[in-house]
Amino acid sequence: MGVTAKIAPSMLSSDFANLASEAERMLNCGADWLHMDIMDGHFVPNLTIGAPVIESLRKHTKAYLDCHLMVTNPLDYVEPLGKAGASGFTFHVEISKDNWQELVQRIKSKGMRPGVALKPGTSVEEVYPLVEGANPVEMVLVMTVEPGFGGQKFMPEMMDKVRSLRNRYPSLDIEVDGGLGPSTIAEAASAGANCIVAGSSVFGAPEPAHVISLMRKSVEDAQKNS
Ligand code: DX5
Ligand code: ZN
Repeated sequence: MGVTAKIAPSMLSSDFANLASEAERMLNCGADWLHMDIMDGHFVPNLTIGAPVIESLRKHTKAYLDCHLMVTNPLDYVEPLGKAGASGFTFHVEISKDNWQELVQRIKSKGMRPGVALKPGTSVEEVYPLVEGANPVEMVLVMTVEPGFGGQKFMPEMMDKVRSLRNRYPSLDIEVDGGLGPSTIAEAASAGANCIVAGSSVFGAPEPAHVISLMRKSVEDAQKNS
């Protein structure tokens, strides 16, 4: 398989008042990416951060900033996030049915990597056109909780979506987000996920580095056995 493990701590579980040092701490613990949850209080019932915070953080780190847009109008965020220094821009398919082609094209034109996310109630077939089109997304994010908050319980029934995607697209980045940690990683990894978002399990651990390396090993072991 051509995909590599990317472990992405969700900064939603960090101390936002010390974001730069929290980011550095996670990178020192072995994180590959930093997952940034951008919520607008409309698409999800929570409000977090936007481009100004990404811009501030970018001044302190060169890390890949994996931005997950839980907003109703992702198109409006492309330019500001591109300028702010976002690396990945993952929008939700549920609100992008009519304009995903324009979105993907604009995300790429701003030098970011486009991804598409789907909520637990959305069927996996909905993202196939975005992966198979002429101008495809480069990652699919399968939500394993209802988006909005950290610390929720992993939904194992979402692994059917991950398996379908992995069977269909052997070299696609497939990300899972929500409830991932030592007790759920094996299931996600064996289904074929290679990008792992984890908030509470990493930040709540006495040794985040241990949790990060355990999750990486789980993804690598699953790939060897596949
Ligand atoms: C939820 C966010 C997640 C969240 C994950 O809407 O997209 O990234 O921070 O947190 P945990 O790992 O605690 O479920
Ligand atoms: Zn997220």
